Amino acid sequence: MLAATACMAAAMAFATAGAFAEDAPSGRAIATQGTANGVPACVGCHGAQGQGNTAAGFPRLAGVGADYLSAQLAAFADGRRQNSVMQPIARNLSPDERTSVSTYFSGLPSPSTVGGGDAAEPSPSDTGAWLAVRGRWGQGLPACAQCHGPGGTGVGGLFPPLAGQPAAYIEAQLHDWKDGKRPPGALALMSVIASKLSDADMAAVAKHYAQQTGADTSAGK
Ligand code: HEC
Ligand code: HEC
Repeated sequence: MLAATACMAAAMAFATAGAFAEDAPSGRAIATQGTANGVPACVGCHGAQGQGNTAAGFPRLAGVGADYLSAQLAAFADGRRQNSVMQPIARNLSPDERTSVSTYFSGLPSPSTVGGGDAAEPSPSDTGAWLAVRGRWGQGLPACAQCHGPGGTGVGGLFPPLAGQPAAYIEAQLHDWKDGKRPPGALALMSVIASKLSDADMAAVAKHYAQQTGADTSAGK
């Protein structure tokens, strides 16, 4: 009898803990509805499927590594990554909410046409394609593809995709690293790279990757 009562109490405690866990908004709910804390729905800017918005320069989140996304939200929240739109949004999300919304977007399919592939033999006069595939070894600048993968589709959780991201967004990130507005990130790789790129290089390579979308960008729905 006593054992049964203890068992019931344990079961109830378990059920209650479960109920509390469900009270926290799910990643999907945050993404599509925002939070009671005044956080707007992410999809309003990042697209219904997290596909981003080329015209507005809002990056794609769909299929991007969860740890990477969550690290970016943490950096916006504590001001290491500066952006007037995302900082207040990230500050109003709890660490648990940042994790769950990152997991949600990471699990959405990346648009299937992303990653048109790099030309194997870019023309030296095409600065963007050349930096992407060859780099500039005289300056110790590796090809972007060495870390971001062929066609810039991203590699693992650490190296985010560049393919199909809005040109204005890519270019702004490179400037932000050069100007110290974005934290160095994993192994400080990108702040070193950005320091070696001229404004013209940044514009060219951003345009190159923005175009790596294949024929039909609506295929991602
Ligand atoms: C009002 C428009 C807007 C809304 C709403 C919005 N974002 Fe953003 N988001 C942006 C902009 C603009 C950027 C680019 C910031 C920059 O240039 O650093 C961005 C960047 C990001 C990044 C960085 C992506 C990367 O590749 O590094 C993440 C992660 C992100 N947003 C997550 C979210 C989440 C999660 C929500 C919902 C809780 C959300 N955003 C809501 C506009 C928005
Ligand atoms: C040695 C490896 C390495 C090389 C080479 C490299 N990157 Fe990166 N890149 C990274 C890492 C790591 C990150 C993630 C940084 C972070 O965690 O904030 C990143 C992130 C980025 C981002 C941010 C994407 C986003 O969603 O916000 C852009 C843009 C970018 N790289 C552009 C480039 C370009 C352009 C080149 C070539 C000129 C390049 N990278 C070469 C390692 C590399």
